[in-house]
Amino acid sequence: MRAIQAPFPATRLRRTRQSEGIRALVAENTLSPSDLIWPLFVRDGEGVEEPVPSMPGVLRRSVDKVVEAAREAHALGIPAICLFPYTDAANRTADCSEAWNPNNLSNRATRAVKAAVPDIAIMTDVALDPYSDTGHDGFVVDGKIINDETVEALIKQALSQAEAGVDIIGPSDMMDGRIGALRAALEAAGHKDVLLLSYAAKYASAFYGPFRDAVGAADALKGDKKTYQMNPANTDEALRCVERDLSEGADMVMVKPGMPYLDICRRVKDAFGAPTYAYQVSGEYAMIMAAAENGWIDGDKAMMESLMCFKRAGCNGILSYFAPRAARLLAS
Ligand code: PBG
Repeated sequence: MRAIQAPFPATRLRRTRQSEGIRALVAENTLSPSDLIWPLFVRDGEGVEEPVPSMPGVLRRSVDKVVEAAREAHALGIPAICLFPYTDAANRTADCSEAWNPNNLSNRATRAVKAAVPDIAIMTDVALDPYSDTGHDGFVVDGKIINDETVEALIKQALSQAEAGVDIIGPSDMMDGRIGALRAALEAAGHKDVLLLSYAAKYASAFYGPFRDAVGAADALKGDKKTYQMNPANTDEALRCVERDLSEGADMVMVKPGMPYLDICRRVKDAFGAPTYAYQVSGEYAMIMAAAENGWIDGDKAMMESLMCFKRAGCNGILSYFAPRAARLLAS
């Protein structure tokens, strides 16, 4: 649908841009703290906040500090946090069994946040990479990622997360058949209200580099993830992934990375109308921060513009390391 336009000078599009108030009246999209999900890195210890060098301003936090961050997020109106564990080398093994240890870092953080800040939603990642000695999201046999055995392990991981009290499970592993298998296992175990936010269109991207530093997977990872994550050249395949995951029981879907993939966000939203999220990943964050620290761009403005663009592209929300900074700015 197009607005009817008289020829110039009856139509002067600059009339609607003349002041802050008029611009706000005609704004087609808005950004609010309730659009944001804040990813947090969890590590062992107490009272620890350790900077991640490739992500200026981002910290690995011990569980007590994660609780503080969750409190801060809730006060800022951020509805959800997403937990990523930085696992000790000793707990990264070929069988990945730490992934379903009820007392692993992720589950301990979940229980602590639930007890202290019950109203914030907790999301966790389902994938084996924080617990594997290969850095891959699935089991590796003879140099290949084995799909079906990996899905069995993902079920155990997801059930232990649900048991700990997670609200939203985010399978980021890109194995085939995992959404259906996870949904069936959650239902059978009585976890009927646990949401699945599928990393449905997840690309094999160079923009995950700083994240792999943050969770300590960079050194272990040999090769790439191209046999399970998507080729950046493809769009139709993303729609097939999303359709498949929705049909298997995903409640929400994600496109990842974010900024280079806004066309995918738009097509996914238009095709399915499902709750759609983008992950503004570590490399996107690092780029904006690096340019801002060099004085080459205005960091606050670039941050807000990047987040608004996700809304314009049709996203319901954004996972972003900028979440608390953006929420503070929106409140000021
Ligand atoms: C791992 C996972 C990754 C991210 C989220 N979950 C990295 C990867 O797939 O190698 C990346 C997030 C980011 O870069 O911020 N399953």
